[in-house]
Amino acid sequence: MNKFVVAALAIGALMIGPARAEEIVIKFSHVVAPNTPKGKGADRFKELAEKYTNGKVKVEVYPNSQLYKDKEELEALQLGAVQMLAPSLAKFGPLGVKEFEVFDLPYIFADRVALRKVTEGPVGKKLLSLLEPKGITGLAYWDNGFKIMSANKALKSPDDFLGLKMRIQSSKVLEAQMKALGALPQVMAFSEVYQALQTGVVDGTENPPSNMYTQKMYEVQKYATMSRHGYLGYAVIVNKKFWDGLPGEVKPQLEKALAEATTYANDIAEKENDDAIAAMKASGKTEFITLSADQAKAWKTALKPVWSEMASRIGKDLIAEVAKTTGAE
Ligand code: LMR
Repeated sequence: MNKFVVAALAIGALMIGPARAEEIVIKFSHVVAPNTPKGKGADRFKELAEKYTNGKVKVEVYPNSQLYKDKEELEALQLGAVQMLAPSLAKFGPLGVKEFEVFDLPYIFADRVALRKVTEGPVGKKLLSLLEPKGITGLAYWDNGFKIMSANKALKSPDDFLGLKMRIQSSKVLEAQMKALGALPQVMAFSEVYQALQTGVVDGTENPPSNMYTQKMYEVQKYATMSRHGYLGYAVIVNKKFWDGLPGEVKPQLEKALAEATTYANDIAEKENDDAIAAMKASGKTEFITLSADQAKAWKTALKPVWSEMASRIGKDLIAEVAKTTGAE
């Protein structure tokens, strides 16, 4: 063997390296801050996945849209550039899975108990299975919470929304919701919302308190209405080819890690949102408005037509099935 061949073999061996060849890396990309229900859930998954696989799997968590924004992260998952995500349920429309927008319907969940009946029941399972033809496997639902509306104007009656530019996620249901209130919906990536609010590109937005707080939106929004008019949660998803190709013993270990991270994320979500409200109130920057019974009724009446308007998009039967499960009318 001449010395060039020996050198080439040595370099080859160095590049492959026995330990590295076995390591499985999961890139988990998300758009929110680490100190949110989703951020903490992702970090817990990392900890448990690495523990249960004895370090065979390494999970790299990329928060705050560091790697990709909303739309790009779904494309990156399909291409295999990242392996795991937990997008909001309101972001699956552009992927062609419009049915998830059922979660965005105003007042479809009275509380978390009603929500769980859907996410932990046959409807939740059926919805996740719709992702398979897109090369995506849906593994779990993670909670965030009920949304509040914010603006630099007090939003008490539906009339107060007239002409306001309101940032929304990419869901057509949310578009219809803002239009039903007389506002002008603007789809925008989550990472751009703070600046858009600060510079007046949009006037207001909706989000669970944990997002409003950790993105510092409360610094640039004078009012927030505790409307709980809709819900925001997540589907934890993986690249199907990656998931199906995992070695036999690794998959159950990761499933165990995810099941525990899911319980953890869902257990902390309500408190994280309550703490966020308390912190924002303490800052004194945003005034929090509680609707009277009459005002709440007026919001509900204004938003009710969204259900029938969206029936042809989401599916009449699916809406009826979810409403039956939650007891919403
Ligand atoms: C948003 O874009 O408002 C949310 O989906 C962000 C998130 O992931 O909670």
